[in-house]
Amino acid sequence: MVLIKTKKELTEHLSFAERKKSIGLVPTMGALHCGHAALVQRAIHENEVVVISIFVNPTQFNNKEDLEKYPQTLKSDIDLLEKISKDILVFAPTVKEMYSNAVRSENYNFYGLENIMEGAFREGHFDGVGTIVETLLTSVKPDKAYFGEKDFQQLQIIRKLVEIRNIPVKIIGCPIVRESNGLALSSRNERLSTTIRHEAAFIFKTLTSAKRIFGMESAKNVKDWVTKQYKKHPDLELEYIEITEATTLKPLVRKQKNRKYRAFIAVYADGVRLIDNIALN
Ligand code: PAJ
Repeated sequence: MVLIKTKKELTEHLSFAERKKSIGLVPTMGALHCGHAALVQRAIHENEVVVISIFVNPTQFNNKEDLEKYPQTLKSDIDLLEKISKDILVFAPTVKEMYSNAVRSENYNFYGLENIMEGAFREGHFDGVGTIVETLLTSVKPDKAYFGEKDFQQLQIIRKLVEIRNIPVKIIGCPIVRESNGLALSSRNERLSTTIRHEAAFIFKTLTSAKRIFGMESAKNVKDWVTKQYKKHPDLELEYIEITEATTLKPLVRKQKNRKYRAFIAVYADGVRLIDNIALN
């Protein structure tokens, strides 16, 4: 395991010799769990050199408190990674290293992908994500970069980012890893009490029911049904439920044959914001 703190060291490690090998990149914000581990394992399987970045990116947080509360656990992250493989590069830079003195985002046009759901409720979020992911991709120059479907909208935005910026990398989307009760693994789950964490399994439960109902009902009826379920739940507050076409993320108005659709949800559980999504067909 090599721990790298600067872009200069990173370039040195990924020297000419390494450049001839295939490189896989897994960008993360740390507080690693089995969802991240699945991405790392896939990257190890498919590449000769693997870089995991651990960086809590300030420009993608629209809420200062959320940024301050974001867990920073570099030592246990390294322990977890060492259990997977001793042969990986961990890139864990400081904010100064990544942004110098200008901690701000680029302005991107992601052709509408950025205006709904996470983009609508977290202003500037995807400009922040785009800025850091573009820097990581151009610094590491990986052949493949791995992202989870847990953040499905982010995954589609990153696909668009590499298209508009012409970055020669293959973006690999990986399935959502869940707890045994269905709750999608997230670094934010650590902030939930045992009781609320148990109750948050309701999120996946409503998504799987939505999938079942979607076979018979319109998108509007499915969304209304989900909204009603949260009105009855005392501890979970629904922020949005959306049903979109899976690639363009355009809200579904009328179902069409041969199109793939997905449901997306954001819920506050005791002040902690959780997101999830599911393929509907
Ligand atoms: P972070 O939330 O740490 O997630 C890093 C990667 O792990 C993302 O691609 C995310 O989708 C994936 N991931 C998280 N939980 C997962 C789960 N339960 N199953 C499968 N994959 C999961 O996403 C970010 O960081 C940041 O926005 C980042 C891309 C690193 C840019 O700062």
